[in-house]
Amino acid sequence: MTDKPFSQACENNKRPILEVLEQAFATRKHVLEIGSGTGQHAVFLSANLPHLLWQTSDQAEYHAGIQAWLDEENVLNCKSPITLKIGEQAIPDKLYDGIFTANTAHIMQRDEVKLMMKQVSNVLPPRGVFCQYGPFTENGEFSSQSNADFHASLLERGCGGYRDISELTQWAPSLTLESIYRMPANNLCLVWTK
Ligand SMILES: C[S@@+](CC[C@H](N)C(=O)[O-])C[C@H]1O[C@@H](n2cnc3c(N)ncnc32)[C@H](O)[C@@H]1O
Repeated sequence: MTDKPFSQACENNKRPILEVLEQAFATRKHVLEIGSGTGQHAVFLSANLPHLLWQTSDQAEYHAGIQAWLDEENVLNCKSPITLKIGEQAIPDKLYDGIFTANTAHIMQRDEVKLMMKQVSNVLPPRGVFCQYGPFTENGEFSSQSNADFHASLLERGCGGYRDISELTQWAPSLTLESIYRMPANNLCLVWTK
């Protein structure tokens, strides 16, 4: 049996994220989560949004941890992870009417984020919703010194680092950025609709 991976950040941000998704996903039915990570968001958010069918996904090495959370919480509307690494697998077309991702765009390489925005933009049906949580820059500006420092440390580790909202907008031609929610710890939740 796999020990459950644990992220304190997920514990801290899951309730504020739920408040956004309660509105944004109110009329959605089938949601894909890109980069489920530990699986903590998936079990909490799906349990609190029981009208949704929630599909977890990530690179294969994360699956055992995600499954450990699913097994323990046994949330009936949360499904075992599929393998999805943007750049290696394509997001399934026309299957999901909502897509959620948290804290992935600053980890991915720039080209992967570009591809994610393009694919999300293509696969969502009309009125589909994409909720994207994490740290971003706006007009090239960091919202805090700690965010600027974190970005520099990500680049040192070989991650792509923070993306600017203007880049994301450019890469998602058929999405409209409906709302920008200001979240705790200088994070944002971007709500896009098709
Ligand atoms: C910082 S973790 C965030 C995990 C979780 N969503 C959270 O908020 O705690 C970054 C996640 O992005 C995923 N990731 C990195 N590159 C990816 C890619 N190209 N396609 C899909 N997921 C990717 C990682 O596997 C990891 O689960």
